[in-house]
Amino acid sequence: MKGIILAGGKATRLRPLTKITSKQLLPVYDKPMIFYPIETLKSMGIKEILVIIAPDYSGHYLNLLGSGIDFGVKFSYEIQDEPRGLADAFRIGENFIGNDNVTMILGDNIFDYDFSTNISEFNKGAMVFAKKVDDPFRFGVIEFDKDMKAISIEEKPEKPKSNYAVVGLYVYDNKVIELAKNLKPSLRGELEITDLNNIYLAKGELKVGIIDGVWEDAGTFDSLLRISNYMASKKMKNEK
Ligand code: TTP
Repeated sequence: MKGIILAGGKATRLRPLTKITSKQLLPVYDKPMIFYPIETLKSMGIKEILVIIAPDYSGHYLNLLGSGIDFGVKFSYEIQDEPRGLADAFRIGENFIGNDNVTMILGDNIFDYDFSTNISEFNKGAMVFAKKVDDPFRFGVIEFDKDMKAISIEEKPEKPKSNYAVVGLYVYDNKVIELAKNLKPSLRGELEITDLNNIYLAKGELKVGIIDGVWEDAGTFDSLLRISNYMASKKMKNEK
């Protein structure tokens, strides 16, 4: 299993913080944000990680992360020239993925949850993860059956079919490369991960894992503050 961290984007919701740096380099309590997705992939046993970054501040990522020796992993880097959407990761990552399966995590998604059991059970198709939320209409919403097979996914629906939001960590078999290549941009001009997931869903190959730990998409001031406070109190508890 290879890993991709998608850490490009424009981060408009965090301006002016992101006028002078990239979102995933901002601090979350005592570490740069990107350290958390690195740790998540590492905890899943993934050692080869492609970091996809925007052209702006790309050198800062190399300075910070280097070869990966300090983390016990191997980093590769690619530049995404324009934020063409989440599914673009599998086009950019084609050579890196090679013949392997791949887990993609968004660079601003922070988890306190152990994915390792779910991943050890994965062999083909796709797997997404869902977390119960109070405000599902803000997210991609997933409906699933008792065997944890997906029934529907809808992007920010007015009338959500469940209370489960799709989080920013996705596991795919190698078919994802060809599927991503054949995607067409959506009305907002992006290659949508939901379109990719819907292809797997239509084939009955989209499984769902439930996250009962912490998940935060740190892309807004409030969520960035919440997850920083969470990490601070977690560290204090561990030190007691
Ligand atoms: P978003 O938070 O949806 O987009 P953004 O980071 O540009 O922020 P904003 O909406 O405030 O302008 O992106 C989720 C994650 O995916 C984030 O870590 C950036 C990354 N991303 C890319 O690397 N490339 C892309 O084309 C997109 C759309 C997102």
